[in-house]
Amino acid sequence: MEEKHLQSTAELEKNCFPCPWNEEQFRHAMEDQFTELYGICTEENNVIAYLLCSVVGDYAEILNIATDEKFRRQGLAETLLTYWTGLEHIQNRQIILEVRAKNLPAQKLYEKFGFKQIHVRKNYYQDDDALVMERN
Ligand SMILES: CC(C)(COP(=O)(O)OP(=O)(O)OC[C@H]1O[C@@H](n2cnc3c(N)ncnc32)[C@H](O)[C@@H]1OP(=O)(O)O)[C@@H](O)C(=O)NCCC(=O)NCCS
Repeated sequence: MEEKHLQSTAELEKNCFPCPWNEEQFRHAMEDQFTELYGICTEENNVIAYLLCSVVGDYAEILNIATDEKFRRQGLAETLLTYWTGLEHIQNRQIILEVRAKNLPAQKLYEKFGFKQIHVRKNYYQDDDALVMERN
């Protein structure tokens, strides 16, 4: 990701989540040494899918992943996760994440990548539980 991608990343975020990060928050994430941001964009540099993760110590965490509604079910999230999990510094790290209990598409995606549910955080969200998933 580069500076020119941040605006469309924030727009995509706004269209996908009730409490979205703004452009400035993505800028901070991009500059933070423990946070990684990857995206897929059109020829016009509009981001249509992104992956936000953190890597600290022995752990890697998927903080968020989203695909523009118009481009879903075309393998974009899978492409991002395949790329990221294949990077050398991610190999042999435990990866964790939280996902809403009602978010079946995301759970299916994570299961496809070998993630298993290890814990439920009851009422973690105002209207939902959070499932904690991990991949060793
Ligand atoms: C979850 C999300 C990122 C998936 O993105 P995507 O680019 O459409 O996913 P892909 O096309 O790469 O799908 C990969 C796999 O994920 C699973 N999957 C994705 N969408 C699914 C759906 N609607 N129903 C069931 N499984 C789904 C499938 O296993 C799929 O593999 P398959 O096509 O071989 O069956 C997308 O639905 C999204 O942006 N949702 C809103 C944001 C969100 O909830 N993010 C997760 C936060 S934890």
